Amino acid sequence: MNLAQRLEAARGEPRPVAAATPATAPAAVAARPVPAARPASAPVPPPTDALTRLKDRVGKALFERMGSRMNDPSMAEDALRAVVLKELDEVVEEEKVPLSTEERQRLTAELADDVLGYGPLQRLLDDDAVSEIMVNGPEAIYVERGGKLERTATRFTSEEHLRRVIDRIVSRVGRRIDESSPLVDARLADGSRVNAIIPPLAFSGSTLTIRKFSKDPFTVTDLIGFGTLSPEMAELLHACVEARLNVIVSGGTGTGKTTLLNVLSSFIPDGERIVTIEDAVELQLQQEHVVRLESRPPNIEGRGAVTIRDLVRNSLRMRPDRIVVGECRGGESLDMLQAMNTGHDGSLSTVHANSPRDAIARLETLVLMAGMDLPLRAIREQIASAVDVVVQLTRLRDGTRRVTHVTEVQGMEGETVTLQDAFLFDYSAGVDASGRFLGKPVPTGVRPRFTDRFDELGIRLSPRVFGAAEPAAAGRW
Ligand SMILES: Nc1ncnc2c1ncn2[C@@H]1O[C@H](COP(=O)(O)OP(=O)(O)OP(=O)(O)O)[C@@H](O)[C@H]1O
Ligand SMILES: [Mg+2]
Repeated sequence: MNLAQRLEAARGEPRPVAAATPATAPAAVAARPVPAARPASAPVPPPTDALTRLKDRVGKALFERMGSRMNDPSMAEDALRAVVLKELDEVVEEEKVPLSTEERQRLTAELADDVLGYGPLQRLLDDDAVSEIMVNGPEAIYVERGGKLERTATRFTSEEHLRRVIDRIVSRVGRRIDESSPLVDARLADGSRVNAIIPPLAFSGSTLTIRKFSKDPFTVTDLIGFGTLSPEMAELLHACVEARLNVIVSGGTGTGKTTLLNVLSSFIPDGERIVTIEDAVELQLQQEHVVRLESRPPNIEGRGAVTIRDLVRNSLRMRPDRIVVGECRGGESLDMLQAMNTGHDGSLSTVHANSPRDAIARLETLVLMAGMDLPLRAIREQIASAVDVVVQLTRLRDGTRRVTHVTEVQGMEGETVTLQDAFLFDYSAGVDASGRFLGKPVPTGVRPRFTDRFDELGIRLSPRVFGAAEPAAAGRW
């Protein structure tokens, strides 16, 4: 008899019928009478079933015994693990199941992982090929793998199980999720970014979105390898950062803005003092002299918030050589543009927009959010003189992320901000048999005016950058 069968016999579990048997409280289970033996011809139930039910019961009993200690952020991980293991031992003991020492240890370890780790999500978190995890209620878990969304067979046993995992994630960062604050941003211990939103706001059940932290952030060589950047474009962007141009990365959700911002920041020469400002720290700059600031949401009483805008203003008093703002999404855009215009050039940021023209319009709207009542023309002038380059990212139908525009912001013509594309993605090259776009970003042939700055600073671009015949071994990449 295997473990599952022995468990079944000892517990007198009814054979599984079409619907799953609801989990029963441990006390009731212990009192349940053993039914008569089954006819020999009865099919052998799936071996996982009795185990799953046992795990479910023990898990519930454990949560009852642990109470609030489960989510006590002041308890160190090791101490919590020790308490959980001890309690688990007692709960398993009460279950009075005939387990060998080894089986019992295995069961306890699995349960401890379920309780202490992230339950069914743990496997997906450990899978390096998964870059994003999306939980839409207990039954539907999607992942992004290689740029494509797919549904997994993984699921939580119930909404309650999912909520326990969410509670665990948010309580570890000192936050709380409940009816009064039903949406929370948090971070896992490894730096992965988490957003949780629960019913009634999340109509289809508690929803969790995890952007996995890449232990090894993508480098410029990776992005060239993916076809996101061409070597020529990388060379141009490197020169832009070195020449202290103000660069805005624009793109939709998940198009790789933060990743590209990280790569652009890697072009900042050593020896400069960099201040990074983010909602949730994601950037991983390799330079030595970096100050990382993170905004803070209000506490449960609604007080104590420190916004990106507060941090941008504060950073100006920190003698920065460069300010890198993770994303402009509000009034901080005005402070950022002012900083760019008043000597803090070489700053970098991202905005959420679908084209360079759209990025300018978005910045206008964001500046209006600062509530300064500035005339539109003044705002446009600020934008035109502050921003030098917009780099547009797009996620194409084939799942790849590409830079589709490198665009110079030239100035104003009448009421309009004038833009000039230096690189555009070549859609005309079509797709290969597997649907992958064959095109790459190609120079438009218009040499941006900002390249005059390169000449003044002695920054040399290889002639191939703007499409001249390629001399052997020219350029950095
Ligand atoms: N060029 C790329 N090629 C392939 N995958 C990429 C690329 N850039 C980023 N990714 C992956 O895409 C996901 C989203 O990247 P990133 O966080 O940089 O996007 P984002 O635009 O900043 O997203 P958000 O709008 O949520 O802030 C990550 O999992 C990242 O590893
Ligand atoms: Mg981002």
